[in-house]
Amino acid sequence: QRPGVLLTRRLFPEVLQRLSAHFEVRDNPDDAVWTPAELIERLQGQWGVLATQGERIDATVLAACPQLRVVANMAVGFNNLDLEALARHGVQASNTPDVLTESTADFGMALLLATARRISEGEHYLRAGRWHKWSADLLLGAEVHHSTLGILGMGRIGQAIARRAAHGFAMQVLYHNRNPLDAATERACAARYVSKAELLRQADHLLLVLPYTSANHHTIAAAELAQMKPSATLVNLARGGIVDERALAHALRSGQLAAAGLDVFEGEPQVRPELLELPNVVLTPHIASSTRGTRLGMALLAADNLIAYHQRGQLLTPVKHPAA
Ligand code: GLV
Ligand code: GLV
Repeated sequence: QRPGVLLTRRLFPEVLQRLSAHFEVRDNPDDAVWTPAELIERLQGQWGVLATQGERIDATVLAACPQLRVVANMAVGFNNLDLEALARHGVQASNTPDVLTESTADFGMALLLATARRISEGEHYLRAGRWHKWSADLLLGAEVHHSTLGILGMGRIGQAIARRAAHGFAMQVLYHNRNPLDAATERACAARYVSKAELLRQADHLLLVLPYTSANHHTIAAAELAQMKPSATLVNLARGGIVDERALAHALRSGQLAAAGLDVFEGEPQVRPELLELPNVVLTPHIASSTRGTRLGMALLAADNLIAYHQRGQLLTPVKHPAA
């Protein structure tokens, strides 16, 4: 009998087709969001799961699903996986790096531009029927070109954004990361390593693209926001928990920070009411990688990890522990 694979969410027909050649596939055609108990129930007897960042695969799930051998996470981030519990249970896990890098970097620039140049605010103003005349000082924004971009987290996505910013927008690019890049990579993305404190102080625009771990929960909180320029913008493409949203809303309301662009939220899909009420925030529903080509590429890479593990006992893109 062929091993069973569970798809936790509705994906694309191509993915079902590819997996069905190797596995007994159970999917979620209604795209329901399952409770942890429902997930455990559907995982009974399954060998593998194609999960998304919305499902927590933790010690409780693993203890309740002893037949599970492999988790293919359809995301580059994997903070939804408890890596220690997976290791303890001998369960392998993969993520989807590389395939999403360029479209996510495009979205990072789009969110930065929309935030700095007040594009959402302008559209709301127009649609609300408030645009009665051209004015010289209507919705004045912040410069992007030739400004200083700070990137916190300099993985593949950070590097792809740095190349766009330096070469396309003549920005000065500063970054902070656990480890500095090697000199050749630094040259290729025209970026300079600085301390986190200097990054906060210097950035006209600060972009967050670091993997979320328990060690960087609220790494941008009141004290960090206070070090930033009052004219600065903050863009979060990573995970909501990296930013203390209460402190951010306060900084945006009090004029301590000019604007923010957020694609991720601490309690998503719930969004803090204070953020919804602020005009100087651009809010998007976790769509940085969302082009058809990229989302299909991510889903197929997750599927191919399951197939490779089944056929050869080797994942294509195993998760790499952030501390490694
Ligand atoms: C999306 O958030 C991802 O990690 O791919
Ligand atoms: C992190 O893994 C990234 O791709 O930026």
